Amino acid sequence: MPGAAKRSRKSTPTRVLVLSGPNLHRLGKRQPEIYGTQTLDDIHALVAERAATRGAHAACRQSNYEGELVEWIGEAEAEGFRGILLNPGALTHTSYALYDAVLGAGIPTIELHLSNPEAREPFRRHSCVAAACVGKVAGFGALSYVLALEGLLEHLARQQLAASR
Ligand code: DQA
Repeated sequence: MPGAAKRSRKSTPTRVLVLSGPNLHRLGKRQPEIYGTQTLDDIHALVAERAATRGAHAACRQSNYEGELVEWIGEAEAEGFRGILLNPGALTHTSYALYDAVLGAGIPTIELHLSNPEAREPFRRHSCVAAACVGKVAGFGALSYVLALEGLLEHLARQQLAASR
């Protein structure tokens, strides 16, 4: 049956989950001198647009609740996501629950920040999640989300190449 043997050339888009933590729903109003004037919706639109140009799809969510973020991370692989972009907000500096969630996610996570936390108050210099992530992007404002997406897609492409060898 030659027809049945034919493979579809249409590849399904790589699905990426973009998560933002506490207080990031207030971007645009919240300390614009640090975080910029773009809203989170603006940033989500930027990431979705860049993802589309790369043949990927970005699903963007925000929560002020640690447990909700933990659940989203834990369910991501089963939901069909290939990787996660995570801006944990202040939970970056406090949450071992997020560290454990990222560690057990089964898919790669990139930590990202609008500001450069290491150049700010001392408590922001420590990240609880960094050791569970494949990399980190910080300090580029809204562009951090886009750069993190590029990094994740590159990482996934390399992973796929290595697996096919
Ligand atoms: C942040 C940095 C965190 O230290 C801070 O608590 C935030 C935002 C950033 O994107 O720069 O809420 O994650």
